[in-house]
Amino acid sequence: MPGSSLRPIWWDGDVVMIVDQRLLPHKHKVLRCTTPDEVIRAIKTMAIRGAPAVGIAGAMAAALGARTLTAADVATFRRKFTHLCHRIRAARPTGNNLSWAVDAVFAVVIENPGADVPELQRLIRRKSEEILAEDVRFNEAIGRWGAEVVPKGGRILTYCNAGALATGDYGTALGVVRAAFAVDPSIHVTCCETRPFLQGSRLTAYELMTEKIPCTLITDNAAGSLMQQRKIDVVIVGADRIAANGDTANKIGTYMLAVLANAHGVPFYVAAPRSTIDPTLPNGAGIPIEQRDPKEVTHFYGRLVAPRGMKAENPAFDVTPHRLITGIITEVGIIRKPFTRGIRRALEAPPPA
Ligand code: MRU
Repeated sequence: MPGSSLRPIWWDGDVVMIVDQRLLPHKHKVLRCTTPDEVIRAIKTMAIRGAPAVGIAGAMAAALGARTLTAADVATFRRKFTHLCHRIRAARPTGNNLSWAVDAVFAVVIENPGADVPELQRLIRRKSEEILAEDVRFNEAIGRWGAEVVPKGGRILTYCNAGALATGDYGTALGVVRAAFAVDPSIHVTCCETRPFLQGSRLTAYELMTEKIPCTLITDNAAGSLMQQRKIDVVIVGADRIAANGDTANKIGTYMLAVLANAHGVPFYVAAPRSTIDPTLPNGAGIPIEQRDPKEVTHFYGRLVAPRGMKAENPAFDVTPHRLITGIITEVGIIRKPFTRGIRRALEAPPPA
């Protein structure tokens, strides 16, 4: 059962239920996925999106696949399950949470060498449920830590959608907004529309209006002017992958906002669970950037808005260098500079109760 009206993914018996975010805010349709391939398709086509939500979907796809695999013995199960996990990990390349979640589910097989196939299927399913429940708990902790960086009556600017819809529920950057709003209803959120997929105008605006949090929508190119007029107190965004030195991949355009925030002395925070951190990458140079269909740029709601035959580039993410980031808000606290040391310590810290 969904916990809130904005929860994007849940189990209904042996079916994975996914809110089709491509249709929001005007149509609320739920996809019923009974095979891992249906979940993989939902990830690739962005029916479900947002790095933590994609990770949860990946874990559920693995659990669906584990349940339906035909394997007479554990060795066959393990071989087929390994192959499935590879396919799930490849569904979207930039977000760290997908491979993190699939690895966490696969670890069940490694950690239970004596278990038979039905037992492994049960344990894998339970792990996918734990990943979902934990994500929501961690987002609430991110919200509690992050509320401290929002001044009284704070005017927050956010980008893309790092809300309930992008996670198990509650959100990361919007989790901070929710927690801040609970103690101070005078805050205000500016959301950027986030071309080309419009996660800001379709999803963030929808979440904020649903929760009656004061908000205004702007075009992406209005952000600099607002900062110049001193109308923004703090920028808070989500993340798809954070390297060991704090360099952060997030929705294309985030880097532009970070440069602007720094030029105007506006604090720039990243909010993300530790599952977004990739300690194997020393810096952001190695983060794989997903390139999406150029049609998302040349077309708007299926209508061509550029000369026919026009070439377009459509990188879905960019990397913000750590020097432009004020702090990284995680479930175990706010990491500040120097990030390399802070990230290492955060990864060693016990999870919040
Ligand atoms: O392409 P998307 O919509 O999956 O991109 C989402 C983002 O960039 C989010 O900001 C990020 O995943 C953090 S979501 C908590």
